[in-house]
Amino acid sequence: MTRSDSPDKRFLADYRPYPFILEQTTLSFDLSPDATRVKADLALKPRGGAEDLELDGGKDLRLMSILVDGTAPDPGHVRRDGECLIIAAAALPDGPFTLTSEVEIDPSANTAFEGLYISGGMFCTQCEAEGFRHITFYPDRPDVMAPFHVTIRSDKPVILSNGNPVRQEEGLAEWHDPWPKPAYLFALVAGDLVAISDSFTTKSGRDAALNVWVRPGDEDRAGFAMESLIKSMKWDEDVYGREYDLDVFNIVAVDDFNMGAMENKGLNIFNSKLVLASPETATDADYERIEGVIAHEYFHNWTGNRITCRDWFQLCLKEGLTVFRDQQFTSDMRSAPVKRIGDVQTLRARQFREDQGPLAHPVRPEEYEEINNFYTATVYEKGAEVIGMLKRLVGDDGYAKALDLYFERHDGDAATIEDWLKVFEDATGRDLAQFKRWYTDAGTPHLKMTEEWSDDGRLILNFSQHTPPTPGQDEKPPRVIPIAVGLIGPNGDEVAATRMLEMTEAEQSFTFNDLGARPVVSALRGFSAPVILERQIDNATRAFLLAHDTDPFARWEAGRDLALSALTALAQGQEGGGEYVDAIGQLAADASADPAFRALCLNLPGEEEIATRLSASGITPDPDAIHMARNGLARRVAEAHADLLSSLYDEMAVSGPYSPDAGAAARRALRIAALGLLNRIDRGDRAEVLFGTAGNMTERMAALTCLIRRGRGHAALEALHQQFGDNRLVMDKWFAVQPMAAPPEDAAAIARRLSERDDFDWKNPNRFRSLLGGLAANHAGFHAEDGAGYDFTADWLMRMDRVNPQIAARLSTAFETWPRYDADRRSRARAALERMAGMEGISRNLREMVSRMIA
Ligand code: PHE
Ligand code: ZN
Repeated sequence: MTRSDSPDKRFLADYRPYPFILEQTTLSFDLSPDATRVKADLALKPRGGAEDLELDGGKDLRLMSILVDGTAPDPGHVRRDGECLIIAAAALPDGPFTLTSEVEIDPSANTAFEGLYISGGMFCTQCEAEGFRHITFYPDRPDVMAPFHVTIRSDKPVILSNGNPVRQEEGLAEWHDPWPKPAYLFALVAGDLVAISDSFTTKSGRDAALNVWVRPGDEDRAGFAMESLIKSMKWDEDVYGREYDLDVFNIVAVDDFNMGAMENKGLNIFNSKLVLASPETATDADYERIEGVIAHEYFHNWTGNRITCRDWFQLCLKEGLTVFRDQQFTSDMRSAPVKRIGDVQTLRARQFREDQGPLAHPVRPEEYEEINNFYTATVYEKGAEVIGMLKRLVGDDGYAKALDLYFERHDGDAATIEDWLKVFEDATGRDLAQFKRWYTDAGTPHLKMTEEWSDDGRLILNFSQHTPPTPGQDEKPPRVIPIAVGLIGPNGDEVAATRMLEMTEAEQSFTFNDLGARPVVSALRGFSAPVILERQIDNATRAFLLAHDTDPFARWEAGRDLALSALTALAQGQEGGGEYVDAIGQLAADASADPAFRALCLNLPGEEEIATRLSASGITPDPDAIHMARNGLARRVAEAHADLLSSLYDEMAVSGPYSPDAGAAARRALRIAALGLLNRIDRGDRAEVLFGTAGNMTERMAALTCLIRRGRGHAALEALHQQFGDNRLVMDKWFAVQPMAAPPEDAAAIARRLSERDDFDWKNPNRFRSLLGGLAANHAGFHAEDGAGYDFTADWLMRMDRVNPQIAARLSTAFETWPRYDADRRSRARAALERMAGMEGISRNLREMVSRMIA
């Protein structure tokens, strides 16, 4: 596609610095629900020649006045052009000047939750990526950075913005942020809020006041967020040498939020589901996510804020690195192997899926229409994997040196991926030209491995790599792939410790010498690269690795492969599963293995994952056959190991008060895994007892899911509603679990019935995501043969698009795998997509998504 025939697209290659320097931003807000006034004073200085001043500004801004150095310019020199305000060069001085504008905006009409909006009576903002232009006219691009001085008038008791407080009095607050920042990091909050407070002294002795702000009544559920914040601050000092740099750090929980959370400088704004937790309302998974996301947003203070992105094509610069850092943090706080396995599962479920379909794009895209559509698993999770590989290639010391250099060289900059890679090259002397392909080339490489053994004790491993084409990229040159390999002797002892093989060619061999007997190869240990490993391996060898591999990831992977090979066979009407059933019993009985690890092994791969595996081998997945195959195998496991599972279920009960720590969570995870299997043969009796007696949400939700699967969920659903009908976060779970655990043939009808309820507050993103995401998580339900899942989803996406385009576009990814199914399903999915594409007044967000999916 050429630039001239795609006027709506933005291209990386078109980057040009902003022609003005912004030295200071001074804002003054007069908050009112439907007529907020915003006055902006921008101290600007031309970089060079006489250029027009272009400011971004949404159509929702009502311009009240505009002044250049205090005087109104000639009206002929000011024009609005679409989403821009342009002041002609002729109206501007040669040297520094102040541009003053005043606009009026209507936060109460803002249902897209981008810019300034109202949530639960509280004013709040969301500016990433391009929300600030809905607040005032501004160079809304990340490479324009300035210190902010903000004055806010409001009758709300608590008024917050970025930086340090300068003045707080009744009806007014003034904040100053000394650190130059782009507009996307601006934030403002005004509401009736209460804080739980603490403090942190940095390693060089600076005191910071910490607050987690919530609505009155929610204070007793904010403590875990505060603990997580303090751990994060300490960890970033210990591991990365990064200190906090302001006098206060505020976190605010809001109910209406499009994403998870936002790293605004000194004022992080969070989706309330990632702040509020109590044992009765949050699961272990919720606690772990809260800890991880609090850390993620805090870590952005250095990787994102102090060093930001030059443009939105560089989004992975901050997101990939910050995800990598939060993953390291969680590994340190909890179990590193369990964390790694979980991350790989997410990567495969979300990113591999994305990479294999019509929405595939590079970690650093080169074009987009709507940047909000690129907050993806590829940018985030694959972006983090790429950094993990880089670390593996340069070693821990090289990584530490490179990061020190990165902070030293780029503090205060709006940087690029080129800057990032250069830092590694300079710190380690390595040439990263080939490595850069991980950023520029989309798609998941397939890595084939074969073995050649000769009796003189020599083993040759032959590898070949191939990456299938992705939209706009047909040819994929070979990439550098770090392949961690260990060897295990026939008696189960490791005969060669992990060695990092560095593959750089399309085909390449590596030799191991002086081996006594033919070893079993443990390949791609720790998931050393985000690739699909294809090797000739039989089930006996997989079972051997599951029993003996010293690398926890590879060990888990062997069990996973065993399960997947059985499930893909069963889903095609073949036999299979015997080896899996035997091996999994041995592992479950191994009391020396971490309960969390055993739980991970006992959980069968989901239906989506089975479908992905089938389609990667060129087989059209049949959702109903997959559903039956998985149920059948789970039942066989339960029958074969009923006694063992039953005693695990009893033994793993945790007594005493609830604690979300990794040890207790691991026991609950194993207990729940056993319950899920036993549920297939005990009619749901255990689940019913557990639902009635458990004191924590982790076990209650697990029990509820089991009951729904047995068609016995009614009373439990009623009871939960009775108890928590006024708790939004619990009700979100209530809405999600019903379509998710429903029999596939009923799932869409159940979702539709739920959508007709008064308490389906669909404009709330969490509630909407619960219901539509719950249905999408039911693989055979969403892909029901009659198209009911597709139609229901398309109906609601179209309705949501008029209100909140970001949410509609995001959830449209439920369709991203449609091309892999049979002709009937394909034609129904295509019809749903075309119906959306043809919608009058469709947003740019949803339009881009459906057109990429149809293309
Ligand atoms: N930058 C946020 C994060 O990763 C995500 C986000 C993007 C939030 C856009 C809101 C809007 O942490
Ligand atoms: Zn982030």
